[in-house]
Amino acid sequence: MRRRSHRHHNTLRAMSFFASALTCIFVTAHVEPVFGKIDTVTNIFRPLSQPAQEIKETSFLVLAICAVIFVVVAGLLVYAIVRFRHRPGDEVSEPAQVYGSNQIETAWTVLPILIVFVLILVTSRTIADIQNRKPVTGSVNATVVGHQWWWEIRYPGLGIVTSNELHVPASTEINRRPTFLKLQSADVAHSFWVPQLAGKTDLIPNRENLMWIAPTDPGTYLGNCAEYCGTQHARMLLRVIVHSPQEFEQWVKEQQRPAVEDASASEGRKVFFANSCVSCHAIRGTSAKGVFGPDLTHLMSRQTLASGAALNSHDSLRAWIRDPQQIKVGCLMPNMQMSDKELDQIVAYLESLK
Ligand code: CUA
Repeated sequence: MRRRSHRHHNTLRAMSFFASALTCIFVTAHVEPVFGKIDTVTNIFRPLSQPAQEIKETSFLVLAICAVIFVVVAGLLVYAIVRFRHRPGDEVSEPAQVYGSNQIETAWTVLPILIVFVLILVTSRTIADIQNRKPVTGSVNATVVGHQWWWEIRYPGLGIVTSNELHVPASTEINRRPTFLKLQSADVAHSFWVPQLAGKTDLIPNRENLMWIAPTDPGTYLGNCAEYCGTQHARMLLRVIVHSPQEFEQWVKEQQRPAVEDASASEGRKVFFANSCVSCHAIRGTSAKGVFGPDLTHLMSRQTLASGAALNSHDSLRAWIRDPQQIKVGCLMPNMQMSDKELDQIVAYLESLK
């Protein structure tokens, strides 16, 4: 009796586990956007870009086929367990022993081969379709370079360099504006993943990988590095900001301007150029040409700092410069040991970089 209630308890526990797992899947699939248009839960089952859409359709087909197989196999298993369970008196005689059946063996060999063949064909068609897509007029080209732990983003055709936030135009049926990305790495392997826009593609040292996205809806999409790349891998966050085509042109114009020279921030400018900030950061139109850290020409146009580790606010910018290691342990930006006064001045200068 006791054993039975124990078993009963386990079954209940297993059932409640499956129920909560299903609830989780359901809830994540239907979570509504918060913070304006940013979804905090990035969801592969709610794609808003062409490659992601195609991947979802293939996954659903594969899941459906597997679900049918599961139901058939589990059904037969349950049937056999119930139908042929042990009954009193079974010890007396052995059940009929059946050996070999050509029909059954042929069926369970041929059928799986056919199913696997269908899965291979469907999957390779999606892969080929996504990989062979060619740029069209109106495509945007960008190069994304993975660094420990931030993303360098270059638009070679437009003369723009930025970081951690990839800006692209929305792409519709009528006005197709896909963005083609060249993915490179400056150090170790990283992986570019924005779940709602496309599958993952690795950024590998000494190699160039290609991918493309064609987001349909303007908004901000969250992503992250999807390949363990060191201590701050978890804070190597990524944003893709999708604009309407007009808004995108506007953004391009603003980014193409050299850095603003604001006379009221000249003290901070002096502090910046007197310190080794310039050996790692570039500010277009000035003598700062460092390439080890993010380009700061239009720092204030970005939503976040430190690759998404903090929002780009006055306080977090100050805290970041005072001691980057407090916000992102292990990051390559050193503590410059600045006085409070210098900190205020340099923050004022950086805040002038609109
Ligand atoms: Cu970069 Cu993980």
